[in-house]
Formats: sequence, C-alpha cells, structure tokens
Amino acid sequence: MVMNRRIIEHFLIVLFLCLMNYDGVRGKPPIKTIKTEYGDIFDCVDFYDQPAFHHPKLKSHNYHPQMKPSLFMMKVVDPSKSITDTLESMKLPDGGCPVGTVPVRRFTKKDLTRHKLLPEPEDNFVANGNNFNDSKARRKKPLKGYNTAIVSTVDNPNNKFGGASMIAAIYNPRSTGQQHSACRLKLIKGKNIIQVGWRVDPTLYGDNRTRLFIHFNDGTNSCFDLLCPSFVVVSELSPFGQPFRHISDIHGEHFDWAFQIKWDQQKGNWWLFLQHMTDQYIPVGFWPKEVFDDFGNYATRVEWGGVVYSPAGVLLPPMGTGNYPIIKSALSIAYCRNIALLDDKGQYIDISNSNLPTTSTNSLLYSVADYPNYGLGSDYNHTILYGGPGEL
Ligand SMILES: *[C@@H]1O[C@H](CO)[C@@H](O)[C@H](O)[C@H]1NC(C)=O
Ligand SMILES: *[C@@H]1O[C@H](CO)[C@@H](O)[C@H](O)[C@H]1NC(C)=O
Ligand SMILES: *[C@@H]1O[C@H](CO)[C@@H](O)[C@H](O)[C@H]1NC(C)=O
Repeated sequence: MVMNRRIIEHFLIVLFLCLMNYDGVRGKPPIKTIKTEYGDIFDCVDFYDQPAFHHPKLKSHNYHPQMKPSLFMMKVVDPSKSITDTLESMKLPDGGCPVGTVPVRRFTKKDLTRHKLLPEPEDNFVANGNNFNDSKARRKKPLKGYNTAIVSTVDNPNNKFGGASMIAAIYNPRSTGQQHSACRLKLIKGKNIIQVGWRVDPTLYGDNRTRLFIHFNDGTNSCFDLLCPSFVVVSELSPFGQPFRHISDIHGEHFDWAFQIKWDQQKGNWWLFLQHMTDQYIPVGFWPKEVFDDFGNYATRVEWGGVVYSPAGVLLPPMGTGNYPIIKSALSIAYCRNIALLDDKGQYIDISNSNLPTTSTNSLLYSVADYPNYGLGSDYNHTILYGGPGEL
C-alpha cells in the first residue's frame, strides 16, 4: 500500500511538472488554456502530449487522434420523464479545445497537497480465488470507510462481459472535507477495474460540485481522470473533472446522463462513450489494453449504483438524493435506468426478466432496489433505485 501511494505520488509529480513547468523535459506548453466559470483551468494539450503517453508501455504506441473504436455505436433511446443531458452542456468556454488537442484539467500545488488525503481505493474482491463463492470471506474484508448500495452481475468466474451501460440521474449529495459521494458504472476483472460516473469529492476536486469522473486501477496503480497515464483521450470534448451544468431537483427538473463502456473486439481496448447529441454517442477515448496486466478481452463483474466514503470518526454523507428507495419513484430517488450488459461478442444480454443481486454494505443507512422491468416503457427497462441519508 505504501508502494501504491508512492507510485501514485510519482505520477502526480510527473504530471505536476508537465502542467506547471512547461520547460520540463517532457511537458510541452499547452496549445490553449481555458478558465471556466467554476474557476477550473483546462489546458488543451496536443493529442501526442497527453498524460497516457507517459505510460512506459505506450512509448511506441501508434495511437492517433482520429482513432475510432472498431465497433458499432448504439443509438440512444430518448428519455421520457427526464432530460438526458449531453456533452454540449459541458463544452468549455471560449470555443473549447481545438480539434487534435485534449483538455487536461490543471491541478494546482494546493490540489496535489490535498490529494495526499485521498483514501486508498475501495476494496475489491478478486474473482479468481478458491473462496470466490464464500460470501463470508468477502464480508470479513474491511470496508475502510466505504459504503455501497449497488446492483451487480451474478458472481461467476466464468462470466464474460464485453461492456455495460447505464443512464444515471445526476444529483449533488452534500459532502464536505474528506467525505465523498458518487454513482458509478464499474467493470472488473481480477485486480483490474475501470469506472465512470459522477462524484462529489472535495478532496479530489476542491469543491462540492458534482463532476464527471473516470477511475482506473490495475492492482498497483490507481487514479482518477487523467491523473496517471491510463486513458487515451481522442475527443477535444472530453469532460473529465468538469462539473455537470444541470443537476436534478427532486421537486423540479430531472437530468440524467448516459455512460457506456465497450470493449473493442478487434483491438482489445476499453472505450468510453458519452452522449453528444440527443441521438448520438461519441467515443471519448479508451483505456488501452497495454495499461492492464490482464484485461484484454472481457470483464467478469459489473456493478451499478452508489458509493460513499468518510474517514474514521467522520459521519457518513448522504447517497443519491438522500432518500431510501422505499417507494418506486424515479422522481425522488436516485436511479440508473436502462442498465445494460454486453457479452464478449458485443451482443446485448437480455436482462429484462432477471433480477440481479443487490448489495448494501450498511442497510440502515443506504439501500438499493432492482427493477428488471420498471414498467415505464423501454426508456426505463432494467432500472435500479439507490440511496440513503447517511449519518445525518
Ligand atoms: C460459484 O457459484 C457459481 C454460481 O452459483 C457456480 O457456477 C460456480 O461453479 C461456483 N464456483 C465455485 C468455485 O464454487
Ligand atoms: C457547497 O459549498 C458551498 C460553498 O461552500 C455552500 O454554500 C453549499 O451549501 C454547498 N452545497 C452543498 C450541497 O453542500
Ligand atoms: C426494453 O425492453 C423492450 C421489451 O422487452 C425491448 O423491446 C427494448 O429493446 C428494450 N430497450 C432497451 C433500450 O434495451
């Protein structure tokens, strides 16, 4: 773990030098710098200067800015009761980053000092040991300050998933200090984990806004967004670390956001798709197969739902809207709708009639409900509701 932290710190320092010291050996000056209304600074760096290419295994890559996944792109189903927000709403001011560049959020010295307080990543049970089906063994693992309320795939080491998706309601649960509260789509194989979703995380971002994040973990290194070399961005619209402009209000408008991760059948990379226009997803970038020890072909477990954290001695924050899913109402309870799973051939697995396992690590504070057929038509299909007040 000490090793872990040191490696992360090393990456942070390298990145810090790249961003703050343009005369550094590796870092080149950004092509454009944009300050947002939220006070964040984004550097538009040339595609070839982006953080991912500092990874030792990507030294001789032949990735290029016009890269597209070699797979089919799914059309989005229009939402009925909610407004599905798109990348346009997150477009950076001042015309955004030019084509061929990649927006990289600048983390200041103050940010990096605060990052020393980031917790170790959440524990993950490893789906390959002999005690795989021993749920007691799993429960004995310390939660280390994390609590989840999630729906997941059935435990089976033979699972082969080539992707997953969800359309998640965006909320702004209160989190202060070292607390955080998030909703994520998580794909797992052994020690390899990739995640996308939204989070309120003052330790990471320095404020209590709800921001779009990705997370990477290969068992040795782990990081958020582009803070370590793990994700190749191909779109100048890439929004990592940006606040969502539109937050749902249980008494007013509801906004949600579509997240999709798909494995490229030919190249072995894991692509992230986000919604660009109301009927179109764009590939924002990918976790290259080279950055994992063994994640080249499929995931064995997928999770959807909420996670919160607080350090020892600090009260747990609310999750989702702060309401438990005791009634079936996607208007007052945080949801992930249209959750979907792909098999290792890239085909949709029909989960419209199957209840999936639910897990709440602290059912007094948070809970989760699974509705294989929500009953509001094809915009909802398989929907989960999750959340709770925490230790308010
Ligand atoms: C674990 O459980 C699954 C599903 O019930 C079963 O298919 C699998 O064989 C079990 N694995 C072990 C190692 O017992
Ligand atoms: C977020 O922080 C601001 C400024 O500190 C505060 O006014 C606001 O109430 C906070 N919002 C939430 C949801 O905690
Ligand atoms: C939702 O379910 C219906 C009926 O089972 C199916 O025809 C439709 O394709 C599903 N929609 C999505 C987006 O999965």
